[in-house]
Amino acid sequence: MILDGKALANKVLESVEERVKQLAVQPHLVVILVGENPASRIYVRNKKLAAEKVGIKSTVIELLSTISEEELLDKITELNEDKDVTGILVQLPLPEHIDKNKVITAISPKKDVDGFTPENVGRLVTGLEPYYYPATPQGIIMLLDEYNIQIEGADAVVIGRSNIVGKPVAQMLLRRNATVTMAHSHTKNLEDKIKTADIVISAAGKKIVRCKMVNKNSCVIDVGIFRDTNGKLTGDVDFDCVSSTVKYISPVPGGVGPMTIASLMYNASKVYL
Ligand code: GUN
Repeated sequence: MILDGKALANKVLESVEERVKQLAVQPHLVVILVGENPASRIYVRNKKLAAEKVGIKSTVIELLSTISEEELLDKITELNEDKDVTGILVQLPLPEHIDKNKVITAISPKKDVDGFTPENVGRLVTGLEPYYYPATPQGIIMLLDEYNIQIEGADAVVIGRSNIVGKPVAQMLLRRNATVTMAHSHTKNLEDKIKTADIVISAAGKKIVRCKMVNKNSCVIDVGIFRDTNGKLTGDVDFDCVSSTVKYISPVPGGVGPMTIASLMYNASKVYL
């Protein structure tokens, strides 16, 4: 069965739109884009379009790649203090001369719609309620829940240990009582680990999940998105053959991508005054 991220994302966006209408204040998401990264430009444009669609005010602040770390931190302080701004997102990656951890840490946890600040990450790990869960992991969990895929007690393998996807999705699965294995570039015998897994979440950014690795009862979530040598959008999973083996699979495009945006809009509709 194909997990239709596009359909669920539309449902989530509709409910976010309803929720925004009920709010006493209009949420206002500010997205900071530093430099000229073409992929980042597309992501930021998509976030702005989605916000407009659901009635969330959005502002994109474009800054030159030559901006100093201090100037960027000052901008964030200003936005933290601005009562009209309810959400702040700094699009990653940042230029090399800027310490991204310093920048993320500067964001007020109550406006940190990415859920990347140490306070929100700490809340996630300790079992406290974060103000926001990271968008991609939250979108993945929504997708699993929509199709009633059991997380409790499941053996889950997460491939990739980024702060944006791998680490937080592993924590979210753990909170839901899955048994989580984190795999990465130094992992031995990845195939053996995937073979017995109930849930495989691949966020490696390269073609890594092959047909012979998976079992017929598993659910495979593909977080990867890149272009193959023919210029076609593809993910980490060898879709054509894995999809004929497993029970559930998320496609690329149309799986995790739209869910990430919808999940971010859900976050941006949360207002902590
Ligand atoms: N770059 C790639 N993914 C993300 C994300 O989820 N949030 C931010 N801020 N930057 C990203």
